[in-house]
Amino acid sequence: MRLIFLGAPGAGKGTQAEKISEYLNIPTISTGNIIREALKSGTEMGLKAKSYMDAGNLVPDEIVIGIIQERLAKPDCQEGFILDGFPRTIPQAEALDRMGIIIDRVIDLDVADEVITQRVSGRRVCEACGNSYHIAYKKPNVDGVCDACGGTLVQRKDDQPDTVLERLRVYHEQTEPLKGYYEKQGKLISVKGQNEVAETTALVKAAIEA
Ligand code: AP5
Repeated sequence: MRLIFLGAPGAGKGTQAEKISEYLNIPTISTGNIIREALKSGTEMGLKAKSYMDAGNLVPDEIVIGIIQERLAKPDCQEGFILDGFPRTIPQAEALDRMGIIIDRVIDLDVADEVITQRVSGRRVCEACGNSYHIAYKKPNVDGVCDACGGTLVQRKDDQPDTVLERLRVYHEQTEPLKGYYEKQGKLISVKGQNEVAETTALVKAAIEA
């Protein structure tokens, strides 16, 4: 199955993608994670993306389209995948269509902006392995320490309050129109994402099996 997870920053795309990826045994492709990895490794693409990301803006379409084209060509994507954070603009969605990739369902996680800011401000990520936690909703066993690798948990630079507001503005302006794009293709299913993680996962499973 080929799925897209849409939604505002902090709507829970990454959290739900992890659950559904395990459930369907297909990989999750997160453009955000790929860009952060590139940044950590100091590649040219990572360095180019840094200023956009830190300011809460989108990285230029040609960079992310190139990332996706390369990633989807890998063998583990041939039986299906979940796209988390791509497409984020109409030109990115059009590029995906031009690649001849048939998407089965687009799941939109619908969460109010007030809930988003609360979630994102409490998120902590492992600086070593990237695992994600929340100070209230998904606590590590030991404060500030990653359960998986013992790395230090930090706040993402783009999770600072002012940057989150900018990311939300950019989402409403550039990404939200994708709902109409996929509605026209008959692929959009909107799922309420403001409740507990397990409750949302049940709704997402129902949506992909509908
Ligand atoms: P990216 O990493 O994709 O960030 P995002 O879309 O802003 O998404 P987030 O990772 O912030 O949130 P999420 O929806 O995955 O939520 P999560 O599950 O973590 O992109 C970062 C940047 O990269 C962009 O700003 C841009 O610069 C660039 N970029 C990436 N893709 C691009 C593209 N295609 N084009 C251009 N630029 C691109 O949850 C958030 C928190 O809430 C966590 O702490 C979690 O534990 C908690 N939580 C989740 N669900 C629940 C729940 N149900 N109840 C309580 N807490 C919950």
